[in-house]
Amino acid sequence: MGKGKQFKFEENATFAHVVQPPFEQVMSDAFPLKGSWNRDFFRRDAPLILELGCGKGEYTTGLAQLRPGCNYIGVDIKGARIWRGARTAKELGLANVGFLRTHVDHLLKVFGPGEVNGIWLTFSDPQLGKDRKKLTSPLFLERYRQVLAPGGVIHLKTDSPELYHYTLDRVAQYGLPLYEHSADVYGELVPRLAPADQAMLNIRTFYESMWLGEGKKIHYCRFGIHPLLGAG
Ligand SMILES: C[S@@+](CC[C@H](N)C(=O)[O-])C[C@H]1O[C@@H](n2cnc3c(N)ncnc32)[C@H](O)[C@@H]1O
Repeated sequence: MGKGKQFKFEENATFAHVVQPPFEQVMSDAFPLKGSWNRDFFRRDAPLILELGCGKGEYTTGLAQLRPGCNYIGVDIKGARIWRGARTAKELGLANVGFLRTHVDHLLKVFGPGEVNGIWLTFSDPQLGKDRKKLTSPLFLERYRQVLAPGGVIHLKTDSPELYHYTLDRVAQYGLPLYEHSADVYGELVPRLAPADQAMLNIRTFYESMWLGEGKKIHYCRFGIHPLLGAG
């Protein structure tokens, strides 16, 4: 491991706002913050919003500044990337930000039923040709349904037309409420989006900047999850 990575891992271990549960603890359903993130981690009651595959946490820290009344958790498996977001949160003094180093597949083991109010999927790997692995596959949508409170929403921001259209197809297939959608968020105003919400869309992530540099268009949609699938 390079010295830079080693330093980031060591600093992560000193950050109270970075949670890195051992694999065995998560798999044995013994993760203590499940269902009590607001009470035991943030120590305040507020809408809880996740960024899944947060990378360097630009959305997590950016939204936390725009919406200080919400609690934000960036989830990623890569400690060196999370470190960047955690450092930013510390430098900006953001008390409403946490980072969780775990696999997104473990969502139901680390968040309790109805504990979450919103989920951001930012430039997720489009998993071309591997529909089951897409973060908006029916498998993941069902997980989101379980952790989201009634009225909870999912935001997808992506450079991938395939992932964007795949997601809109699932929204239509399951009759989910579609609140906003745009195939070019910087080329057109997203219909019905209030200026404050437009500010949320203007946050740029590391990957987004790369794709914009290549001239790609950025797609966005926001949809609800209740009722879904065989929800009962
Ligand atoms: C393409 S990057 C996007 C990062 C960031 N959202 C951005 O826009 O810059 C995808 C991120 O998802 C993370 N990731 C991929 N698979 C994951 C998994 N199964 N569990 C947790 N994180 C994952 C990667 O580590 C990476 O940081």
